Amino acid sequence: MFSKPNALIGALLVAFSYALPSPNSHVYDNGASYSSTPLPPSQDPFYTAPTGFEFKPPGTILRLRRAPGNLTSVFGNCSSAYNILYRTTDSQYKPAWAVTTLYIPSIPNNGDALLSYQFPYNSVDADFSPSYSFYTEPSPDVTAGLSRGWFVSVPDYEGPLASDGAGILEAHSTIDSIRAVLFSNLGLSSDVRIALWGYSGGAIPSEWALEFQEQYAPELNISGAALGGLPPNVTDVIFNVIGTIWASHAMSASLGVLTQYPAAYDFFVSKMKTEGPYNRTGFLTINNMSFAEAHVVFAGQNMFDYFDDGSEILQFPIIKTPFQENSVMTYHGVPRAPLFVYKAIHDEVTLVGDTDAFVARNCLMGTNILYQRNTVGEHLDEFTNGDGRALDWLETVLDGSYAEKYSTEGCTVMNVTVNIVDSGT
Ligand SMILES: *[C@@H]1O[C@H](CO)[C@@H](O)[C@H](O)[C@H]1NC(C)=O
Ligand SMILES: *[C@@H]1O[C@H](CO)[C@@H](O)[C@H](O)[C@H]1NC(C)=O
Ligand SMILES: *[C@@H]1O[C@H](CO)[C@@H](O)[C@H](O)[C@H]1NC(C)=O
Ligand SMILES: *[C@@H]1O[C@H](CO)[C@@H](O)[C@H](O)[C@H]1NC(C)=O
Ligand SMILES: *[C@@H]1O[C@H](CO)[C@@H](O)[C@H](O)[C@H]1NC(C)=O
Ligand SMILES: *[C@@H]1O[C@H](CO)[C@@H](O)[C@H](O)[C@H]1NC(C)=O
Ligand SMILES: *[C@@H]1O[C@H](CO)[C@@H](O)[C@H](O)[C@H]1NC(C)=O
Repeated sequence: MFSKPNALIGALLVAFSYALPSPNSHVYDNGASYSSTPLPPSQDPFYTAPTGFEFKPPGTILRLRRAPGNLTSVFGNCSSAYNILYRTTDSQYKPAWAVTTLYIPSIPNNGDALLSYQFPYNSVDADFSPSYSFYTEPSPDVTAGLSRGWFVSVPDYEGPLASDGAGILEAHSTIDSIRAVLFSNLGLSSDVRIALWGYSGGAIPSEWALEFQEQYAPELNISGAALGGLPPNVTDVIFNVIGTIWASHAMSASLGVLTQYPAAYDFFVSKMKTEGPYNRTGFLTINNMSFAEAHVVFAGQNMFDYFDDGSEILQFPIIKTPFQENSVMTYHGVPRAPLFVYKAIHDEVTLVGDTDAFVARNCLMGTNILYQRNTVGEHLDEFTNGDGRALDWLETVLDGSYAEKYSTEGCTVMNVTVNIVDSGT
């Protein structure tokens, strides 16, 4: 009874048949038309699955339209942008759907480079998915990619239930967004190189996609991935952020993972206190907040204060299993693509030791990794400090010069000192 409404069987079932898009018309989604101004996903019928979508293979395009509104003027060097709704697979391996936005560069290009950029939106409200939030808060990383002539795809990888932190779903939704973009016939060449990029909450779908790629999408060739502020164990993050300015992450990731398991979600919510300063009503207001809002409202709190059971809430088997399956990296597969991993040594949200162990383990399994540990800054600083290094590395992957510039097989671990911003510790 506490579950979010299941968007998969939303009331709006729009009759549908898919035809290959013709690049000159504005609405490719046969029979349905949409507002010319952007609407929040919860109010926009584009964000519903057509009947029978369950029977399409993962990655199938279910709807495709030119993105409404002014998106191409929000981002520099963008000639057009498209929303694609596609079939994917949830954390319980059942059919699901998600949306990605494909940005096409206006500067000359051969359509031979695709960046899948996983933006860290860290919200449990699907109305803060990047396909909508970017109209008012665009990410400069998208323009940075477009300015190099890359196609940039930004998936709403948390899906319609805004399942923040749900590794299995996020792996599938990221991989299927790439498949859908490749099917879209919007200017990418058949020998396109593909790279993934994400920081923090955006490194989760990026890394999980690499772990799942070999079993879930063996036909895909991913040429490389840049992973910043990597959280190899999200349960660790939940403990690290207690009482800090990052406290909302614990609440968001807990609810987010459990949206994929309705019975566990109901159990978790039923165990919250009903009165006192830390009660159920207060906790669940996060369901209608952006990350920026939740960051302020819940700063300094201890999520476990909301439960009579305290931190034991995570030990009930019904809760523990979803976290074990969805929040720890390196258990589902080995990334085949070369990685650029960058992390602040003083990261206070996800400890550098977790990333050291992640790198060591994957090196043993044969992944090629360049791992840079920055002596400067904390979690938020490295988002900025790492940006240029990540883009330069991604460029070598996407233009084919990686092998010659980074000829090392195996792993290179180095400490670097990059001081663009430093919060002062
Ligand atoms: C785009 O539209 C949004 C509202 O949808 C507005 O806030 C924003 O300023 C517009 N941006 C540009 C560059 O026109
Ligand atoms: C567009 O790309 C060109 C070429 O990379 C670059 O010089 C310019 O600064 C970019 N424009 C914006 C708005 O980023
Ligand atoms: C992926 O790369 C391999 C080896 O380079 C190649 O044989 C294969 O055709 C590629 N697959 C696709 C779908 O491009
Ligand atoms: C992940 O972190 C939690 C909390 O610190 C810990 O109990 C668990 O053992 C960790 N899992 C792995 C596989 O390291
Ligand atoms: C629940 O918590 C909120 C603060 O989040 C508070 O305003 C409200 O009074 C509390 N309700 C009860 C019944 O204690
Ligand atoms: C808050 O979010 C829930 C689920 O995410 C949704 O059902 C509800 O309509 C939202 N309420 C408001 C006031 O937006
Ligand atoms: C990097 O710094 C750590 C201290 O954080 C030190 O223990 C380690 O030896 C250094 N590694 C290299 C490769 O210099």
